Amino acid sequence: MRLQVILGIVLVMGAKLTLPQYLAQPNSLRKGFYAESCPELEKIVYNVMREAVQARPRDAASILRLFFHDCFVQGCDGSILLDDEPGFQGEKGAVPNKNSARAFYVIDFIKSSVEAFCPGVVSCADILALASRDAVVLTNGPYWDVFLGRKDARKGSLSLANSSIPNPASNLTTLVSMFQAQGLSSEDLVVLSGAHTIGFARCTNFKQRLYNQSGTHKPDPNLSFPALLEMKKGCPPFGADNNTHSLDKSPFLFDTSYFEGLVQRAALLNSDQVLQSTIGSPTTSLVESLANDQTAFFDKFPLAMIKMGNISPLTGSKGEIRRNCRVRN
Ligand code: HEM
Ligand SMILES: *[C@@H]1O[C@H](CO)[C@@H](O)[C@H](O)[C@H]1NC(C)=O
Ligand SMILES: *[C@@H]1O[C@H](CO)[C@@H](O)[C@H](O)[C@H]1NC(C)=O
Ligand SMILES: *[C@@H]1O[C@H](CO)[C@@H](O)[C@H](O)[C@H]1NC(C)=O
Ligand SMILES: *[C@@H]1O[C@H](CO)[C@@H](O)[C@H](O)[C@H]1NC(C)=O
Ligand SMILES: *[C@@H]1O[C@H](CO)[C@@H](O)[C@H](O)[C@H]1NC(C)=O
Repeated sequence: MRLQVILGIVLVMGAKLTLPQYLAQPNSLRKGFYAESCPELEKIVYNVMREAVQARPRDAASILRLFFHDCFVQGCDGSILLDDEPGFQGEKGAVPNKNSARAFYVIDFIKSSVEAFCPGVVSCADILALASRDAVVLTNGPYWDVFLGRKDARKGSLSLANSSIPNPASNLTTLVSMFQAQGLSSEDLVVLSGAHTIGFARCTNFKQRLYNQSGTHKPDPNLSFPALLEMKKGCPPFGADNNTHSLDKSPFLFDTSYFEGLVQRAALLNSDQVLQSTIGSPTTSLVESLANDQTAFFDKFPLAMIKMGNISPLTGSKGEIRRNCRVRN
């Protein structure tokens, strides 16, 4: 009798499990992991992020990207935050990160603020997960509860960072299979690429798209003409590799204009455009629907971020709580 009641309650609760809770099941990450050990944590992270983003608006995008580059290389374990030192090679020198991954100072500042309240308790991997959510919130995007409990890695992998983070020249087949290798679907690929609604890229990463692209991916000569002209202005066929251009038309606002740009064939990166313009791909209709539906984008993005945040975390006795996010204890 008693057992039946308990089973009944479990079933009812099971039926009510929201998708994010369900997604968190594969590992032991959970909401409120630091509720007792560091109750001020989320407030501290948010306040530092708010100050950073007010002073340097691009930092929101840069932090969000760091989380992606962390999770795609041996899981969300803070490995991207480690500096090179004699006898130890981190990931910062990898092709996708070099001269490009930035705003590490914000993580340092959050970490030292958190250490002042609750020393030795909160991992750098979790700080990056929280700061990424706040980066989205601070640019007018959706809020979600972050699942926590990650530990920090004692190693990085330069070779995995070279090989597991997609290159912007990739075709859709390659992007889908690289996301699949991380347990993410082609829908997750489209939704997470929506992160490019904020931030910038360097000319070296979109030069080929501007001058050398063919077929359906070619920038639309009509619709995108003013945008195209503006992109080309700062990015000539040769040189100027470090010049930057925004990834969509509102680089400090988390909105649907990234997807609108794809529909107009005015995406900045090849890897963005192919989501929309690869003939026969099911991703096309998803791009088109997200371009017209901010509610759908804001519903789906948090779920996809939670899923990405679940990639191979170190939990329990694995890993450590780094004292300084740049160096192993
Ligand atoms: C689908 C495969 C992806 C490719 C090929 C890709 C590639 C790139 C490239 C080349 C840049 C510009 C870097 C530079 O020139 O310095 C960039 C910027 C950025 N990426 Fe991605 N990305 C992808 C997916 C993602 C995902 C999943 C996220 C996060 C969820 C993300 C977040 C960002 C952000 C926010 C920026 C701007 C960073 C800044 O302004 O500092 N990207 N990405
Ligand atoms: C681009 O910037 C990096 C530093 O961020 C520098 O090392 C490199 O020489 C610059 N490249 C060019 C072509 O100016
Ligand atoms: C990563 O790529 C860079 C640039 O191509 C190369 O210099 C380095 O040797 C590569 N490292 C590994 C371990 O793959
Ligand atoms: C996609 O790119 C990969 C790697 O460059 C290549 O092997 C493959 O043939 C390309 N696929 C299509 C459909 O273009
Ligand atoms: C365009 O492609 C050709 C042939 O692959 C190459 O030689 C040239 O450097 C490319 N130009 C740009 C701007 O990417
Ligand atoms: C672009 O504009 C030209 C001239 O107005 C027109 O002839 C052509 O059909 C348009 N192309 C597309 C793809 O709409």
